[in-house]
Amino acid sequence: MSNRPITTLEIRNRKAKGEKLVMCTAYDATFASILDASGVDLLLVGDSLGMVIQGHETTIPVTLDHMIYHTAAVARGAKRAHIVGDMPFMSYKISSEEALKAATRMMQEGRAHAVKLEGGKEMAETVSRIVSAGIPVMGHIGLTPQSVHAMGGFKVQGRDNEAASAIIEDALALQEAGCYSIVLEGIPAPLAQEITNTLDIPTIGIGAGVGCDGQVLVCYDLLGMSKDFKPKFLKQYDNLYDRIHSATSEYVKEVREGIFPGEEHSFKAKKLRVVGDAQAKNESKLYSTIG
Ligand code: KIV
Repeated sequence: MSNRPITTLEIRNRKAKGEKLVMCTAYDATFASILDASGVDLLLVGDSLGMVIQGHETTIPVTLDHMIYHTAAVARGAKRAHIVGDMPFMSYKISSEEALKAATRMMQEGRAHAVKLEGGKEMAETVSRIVSAGIPVMGHIGLTPQSVHAMGGFKVQGRDNEAASAIIEDALALQEAGCYSIVLEGIPAPLAQEITNTLDIPTIGIGAGVGCDGQVLVCYDLLGMSKDFKPKFLKQYDNLYDRIHSATSEYVKEVREGIFPGEEHSFKAKKLRVVGDAQAKNESKLYSTIG
């Protein structure tokens, strides 16, 4: 694996070479540095943080300031991966001007390399405005979580011919507007395959089958950190809920039983001052230990 930072050019070339792109979400510097070292190409600072970090039911409560805070943390943790900052709910739909201002903050303060926004042809003008200002934009169509209430839930989209054609039109409009890649979420695999074959830019799928040019998963989901979240599209590569639970239960037990910290985790005093009264003696021990 090369140490060269992944650029938008490299991302587009991967499609031409038939090499798969690997994206997953990250929300902090520690995870970013581990995922970066394991060879993930793109780190998406997803507004899914509304659920997995903030504990909300949807992504709607996430603000631009939240996204900038987490994007900047991820940018500090990663060396090689391409960092995509998700534009949160309503930060880009009121006007193209506001969208450009929000995207500017994601780049300048969040240190993202690109932004992602949800929506199809209705977003084309905004995408084109942001792209012409020099900010790469990743599209996101199909199941768009910020529209959960309009969609009537987190439901697979594009199941009938009419809906499928509308999604194909959306994909083409986003490519035409200048997107350098598009996330396809929650659509039938044959539809995702057709869009992937039709577009010149790479598609990155989640719940969209193997025919996409790349895949994305929420890092907490792929690591099995939630006990109850097991949708059909998800493969859990570990069971960190159980492993973290077991490790922290052991810690709880050892602290309660006075086993931790052991002598090997405790500092030795270099030299203790001899002092008269007992309390001063104890204080002196504490200071010389920490010092
Ligand atoms: O917010 C997010 O994590 C996303 C991915 C699921 C694509 O948008």
